[in-house]
Amino acid sequence: MRESGYYCSKKTDDICEDVCGEMSRAGLSMSRLRCALRGFDFKALLLLFIGVPILIVIIYLHGQKISYFLRPIWESPPKPFRTIPHYYHPNVSMERLCQLHGWGVRDNPRRVYDAVLFSNELDMLEIRWQELSPYVSEFVLLESNSTFTGLIKPLVFANNRKRFKFAESRLTYGKIGGRFMKGENPFVEESYQRVALDQLLKIAGIEDDDLLIMSDVDEIPSGHTIDLLRWCDEIPEKLHLQLRNYLYSFEFYLDSKSWRASIHRYRSGKTRYAHFRQTDDLLADSGWHCSFCFRYISQFIFKMKAYSHVDRVRFAYYLNPYRIQDVICRGADLFDMLPEEYTFKEIIGKLGPIPSSYSAVNLPSYLLHHVDQFLHLLPGNCMRESE
Ligand SMILES: *[C@@H]1O[C@H](CO)[C@@H](O)[C@H](O)[C@H]1NC(C)=O
Ligand SMILES: *[C@@H]1O[C@H](CO)[C@@H](O)[C@H](O)[C@H]1NC(C)=O
Repeated sequence: MRESGYYCSKKTDDICEDVCGEMSRAGLSMSRLRCALRGFDFKALLLLFIGVPILIVIIYLHGQKISYFLRPIWESPPKPFRTIPHYYHPNVSMERLCQLHGWGVRDNPRRVYDAVLFSNELDMLEIRWQELSPYVSEFVLLESNSTFTGLIKPLVFANNRKRFKFAESRLTYGKIGGRFMKGENPFVEESYQRVALDQLLKIAGIEDDDLLIMSDVDEIPSGHTIDLLRWCDEIPEKLHLQLRNYLYSFEFYLDSKSWRASIHRYRSGKTRYAHFRQTDDLLADSGWHCSFCFRYISQFIFKMKAYSHVDRVRFAYYLNPYRIQDVICRGADLFDMLPEEYTFKEIIGKLGPIPSSYSAVNLPSYLLHHVDQFLHLLPGNCMRESE
């Protein structure tokens, strides 16, 4: 044992023997490390007093990333949707389009109700209502003086109502007071507001078999999709809409995985306004979901503090206007998070910023008719006003 090295004591076992006597090469370096640690206790101490604090800091700064990255291990993906192929061309008759989907065509279209909970997304609301206007019978909008996170919020729609004159004759507008419960889960306030929206829909006169669009303001179904669904018979009672996901503007196209928006043939007493998964059917390529598509930096800051995932603002500097502007122009993540995916392949494939797109093809037509007004939403215009 002597020549096996000065740090191998009598009591040591085969590990030391392996290393110090010339045994298997495989376990060599590993074992050498263990031996070294055993011999030099101060190395272990070093590890304890420097390594462990560094590890804690790394976990503190990047814990969310680590857990997101490991998500495929602890969470399996949700059941896949049954995606319905979607056929459309402006020069194909409605009868033919319905037929292509396996549906019959009606003698007259269903009435369409578009109902939204409004926060502060004025530009998105204008583009949405203009896109849907030819097909919608009644616009229903509810706003609260509280955000989902219990912050006081001005009645942004009420203060800008004249901008929406084109919809006024078909508008049912409702206000609701926030409950301002301290420390409550934001999803409670959110579902409270959605229940109020059910009441408002009744006030607006919705009836059985009317079409109801349930979606956030920034989830915009394309007009032709709604036209198809109001004219065709035998469409599913509930149907999710697959939307193209954009971030900050139509410059940053992420994927086509937005599915929360849904269309319902209204059933009184049964239909409840919701924003979660309600059926397996998903109609392909049905519109756009433009998240954080704001004109002013101040609106980004407001939304980051107001929305239900406020816990993602882990550090105050996330709200720094210069940082936000930089993040927008790079197509990076405002909350410095990893992609929310269920396989390593997809997480790794989406790491890093979203590449710029130079396509403004197949966007809402109102946007292209008012380019001057909505420049910030088009490719190549990432600079925002601070306001
Ligand atoms: C539309 O279809 C008709 C035939 O149904 C055809 O004559 C016409 O050229 C088409 N127009 C376009 C723009 O494709
Ligand atoms: C919110 O609105 C409700 C109902 O309109 C009102 O009673 C309440 O005072 C408002 N709260 C704030 C903080 O403005």
